[in-house]
Amino acid sequence: MKKKSTEYICVECGYISRTWLGRCPNCQNWDSFVLNYPQNQSGLNDKIDLDLKDLKPLKISDISGSSLQLINTGFNELNRCLGGGIYSNTIVLLAGNPGIGKSTLCLQVARNISLSNRVLYVCAEENYANIKARFDRIFSSYPENLFLFDSSNISYILQVAKDFDVIFIDSIQAIRSMDLGSPVGSISQVKNCIDKIIEFCKEYRKTFIILAHVTKTGYVAGPKFLEHMVDVVLLFDSRDEYRVIRVLKNRYGSTDEVGVFTMTEQGIKEGEYFHFENIGKKPGSILCFLPEGSRFIPVEIQTLVNRSYSDKPRRIIWGIDNIKVMVITSIIEKFLRFNLYKYDIIMSIIGALRVFSNALDFSIAVSIISSYLAYPVDKSIFIGNLSLYSDIHPISRGRFRVCLLEAAKFGINKVYSSYTAENVHKDNPDLEDFLREIEFIKVDSLEDLVRMWG
Ligand code: TYD
Ligand code: MG
Repeated sequence: MKKKSTEYICVECGYISRTWLGRCPNCQNWDSFVLNYPQNQSGLNDKIDLDLKDLKPLKISDISGSSLQLINTGFNELNRCLGGGIYSNTIVLLAGNPGIGKSTLCLQVARNISLSNRVLYVCAEENYANIKARFDRIFSSYPENLFLFDSSNISYILQVAKDFDVIFIDSIQAIRSMDLGSPVGSISQVKNCIDKIIEFCKEYRKTFIILAHVTKTGYVAGPKFLEHMVDVVLLFDSRDEYRVIRVLKNRYGSTDEVGVFTMTEQGIKEGEYFHFENIGKKPGSILCFLPEGSRFIPVEIQTLVNRSYSDKPRRIIWGIDNIKVMVITSIIEKFLRFNLYKYDIIMSIIGALRVFSNALDFSIAVSIISSYLAYPVDKSIFIGNLSLYSDIHPISRGRFRVCLLEAAKFGINKVYSSYTAENVHKDNPDLEDFLREIEFIKVDSLEDLVRMWG
């Protein structure tokens, strides 16, 4: 009888070798070979006793409505990134640097989900006592349906998981399959464990949230294949004092979304990063909305324009692209004839991330003008695109509307844009109630605006 041959495949590039190799001769990756099961040889993917009915394809019209259900994570910022919530029977990967707050966020989400589902939190990386201490720091009571399981053996984990709806694995690099001799966290281990989770997920219709570390270069640790195999990949990152979730992949929603959080003494919080009560009261302070994905993030621009005592006035700018500010300063000098070359400009952006988009140019210009003229704008916002010739061009009606809806939350009472009140009322008849409270002022250029402010 012919001896069955064994072969190994590189999970990075697909190179096949008869023997296991430490490094792939094709793509040069280390530890990327896993056992490959050639056709007709029993292995992970083989199911011999298939029922005939399983082999019958389904007509698309015969398929009943989607059985996917949305699970609310309890965080709006996270739900939006996921496309509304976690879809049941899917696998979500949350990747991030060690210490960024993955376990903290997931423990909070696990607790929130456990209010209406049976939730298992596999703490392969830490022990029961650590997780409990973290839980006590954040919550004051214990939910009925949240269970912890301290194990790193994938077979035990999946056995226990059968009794639960949603399973958190913290983290994929800390669990192992006894089928392999390779060390925990190696590519072959990660691959083998993910294979088993996917197969289990299909068979038992469970929902998994898998945590993973990223490497120094920003990749999900180990292999790219991890990203291909799951439904959603979220990257948890930090920017200044914020924690930000970006979507690298989403089968159920847009990859443009971002979620903004802060890490506090009592865990991860959302929506507490921005205080708007005093915006607009001082000259130079302007509320504006930074487009990110399908929504606008509220931010405050603060500017101080001060007489300079040096030959070379200073431009000190935090959070906004410097060149952008230089360009806007030139527009103001040229068309408004403000002698900004005699002034220092200090500018900062509060409540967001970093501004590279051109969407805020009009507001940035107004912030400089407001400080220079010592004219506070109060509860006004400025919507439009600024041209190099100081003209204000309209943004699309759809985006204008989203911006108005955001502004409604902040009690805005004046909107400067290139739309007239008549246009706005006609375009948004359903918003009549709060549009009535707002004065719409049409401006075609920065000169128009300064003329109005006399
Ligand atoms: P952790 O969730 O353990 O990060 P990861 O799982 O991504 O490695 O969070 C680690 C950091 O968060 C740690 O430095 C302590 C801090 N932390 C807080 O600031 N507030 C809290 O409520 C908790 C639980 C942790
Ligand atoms: Mg952790």
